[in-house]
Amino acid sequence: MQAMTVEAAGLYLDLAKQPLSTEGLAAGVALARAAGIEARRAALFAGQAVNASEHRAVLHPALRDPGGDFSALGQPVSAEVRATLARMKALADDLRANGIGGKPLKAIVHIGIGGSDLGPRLVWEALRPLDAPIALRFAANVDGSEIAAALHGLDPATTLVVAVSKAFTTQETLANATVARDWLRATLGEDGARARFAAVSAAPDRAAASGVDPQKVFAFWDWVGGRFSLWSAVSLSVAIGLGFEMFERLLAGAAAMDRHFLYAPLERNAPVLLAIAQVMNRDGLGRSARAVIPYARRLTLLPAFLQQLEMESNGKRVRTDGRPAEHATAPVVFGDAGTNGQHAFFQQLHQGVDVVPLEFIAVAKQDEGPAELHRKLLSNVIAQAEALLVGKSEAAVRAELQAKGVSIAEIEILAPQKTFPGNRPSTTIVLDRLTPETLGALIALYEHKVLVEGTIWGVNSFDQWGVELGKSLANRVLGELEGGAAQAHDPSTTALIARLR
Ligand code: F6P
Repeated sequence: MQAMTVEAAGLYLDLAKQPLSTEGLAAGVALARAAGIEARRAALFAGQAVNASEHRAVLHPALRDPGGDFSALGQPVSAEVRATLARMKALADDLRANGIGGKPLKAIVHIGIGGSDLGPRLVWEALRPLDAPIALRFAANVDGSEIAAALHGLDPATTLVVAVSKAFTTQETLANATVARDWLRATLGEDGARARFAAVSAAPDRAAASGVDPQKVFAFWDWVGGRFSLWSAVSLSVAIGLGFEMFERLLAGAAAMDRHFLYAPLERNAPVLLAIAQVMNRDGLGRSARAVIPYARRLTLLPAFLQQLEMESNGKRVRTDGRPAEHATAPVVFGDAGTNGQHAFFQQLHQGVDVVPLEFIAVAKQDEGPAELHRKLLSNVIAQAEALLVGKSEAAVRAELQAKGVSIAEIEILAPQKTFPGNRPSTTIVLDRLTPETLGALIALYEHKVLVEGTIWGVNSFDQWGVELGKSLANRVLGELEGGAAQAHDPSTTALIARLR
């Protein structure tokens, strides 16, 4: 039992409801070791080209250890990290103290998608004060209703727009940023708009060339993967909205998890143990999905964040060296906050044909709302994990029905339906409180878990070629929707274009 629980950077993980014996765990650790996790971890922290297909370092830990001395592909990076943090702090402190153009800053519209959206959005929802003086709104989708909703009712004079894109070529972000800039211009003119528009990008020259004031362009670097980027200036809006000190505490929590991942023995290493449980469920037992259920309203967006982190990183069918993957890789990740999910999709989790392993996240102490509600919430997370594991036997159901005087014929029909097979595995992760530090540690835990899984599966967790084809076909179809010449398509696509044109 003790081998199945671990404490790391303020988090407590209970893996004792996973199908892992002591020997199974030892075999999992041996597997990770044989796959070369120690060397790959060292290579990542040393800034080597662990993203081989793009010849890039993967160095998000450098972002949360600004006092460190990191190099990416041999080039020192920590001084730049410190300089950017200092600029972020200066802007955040100034806007929070002095507002903008002589008025208080009331709203920030954060425009970005994928890794330039999900992380900051998750952090904001997790930590925002209920009476936040600065409201954050997010626009990701190129569905025009999204930017319309984000801008609706705001006063351009008291609003800052922040456009975030690593590449600064992303269709959705550029389209939404153009709408927002025009909205500022329409009321405030060119200078007023420039004063209220910032950009964050790993292509800062491209951002400046698009007309953003270079003083308001914040850089990050090609060694920061999009889905690992929330520790960079990508979270500028959040750092302004929460205050810079909160952002630093988030970084410190992630840095504590980095140290745990680097120095804890593999047998007691939280990201390694989580990854072993995942690999065992996926490859050992053929389970193709995993549910993540935070029993914390403020972490409702965690499953969506993890969908990108895990499915974009390890949803690969080909190994780093180009050969086909030998095993199944990333499962489908889904989830919702508890207890809401219990009243929606938990039926399938308890009694469906497919076994879906779960991860529960519980927060021991809740500072918002009455204590009795929190006890109810905690009783649910504990009970769900127990019910899924232990189940309820058909014999027990039959006895219960008999005691109620149900007829034998009806018991025959009802008993199987009311039986719970059990043996549905889960891990529970407990945060003492939801703070910037524990949130940072939780997200970093998942980032490192992705590295360990990717190493075991032999895939490059840091590229995402699978998003490219759809993007280029969308441009081709856009040409046709805008009246261009018809292109060759399959019959279904041709018919859809005709219908939607
Ligand atoms: O299309 C996928 C993707 O490249 C993600 O990896 C990335 O997080 C997202 O798009 C946004 O990209 P960018 O930050 O360059 O706009």
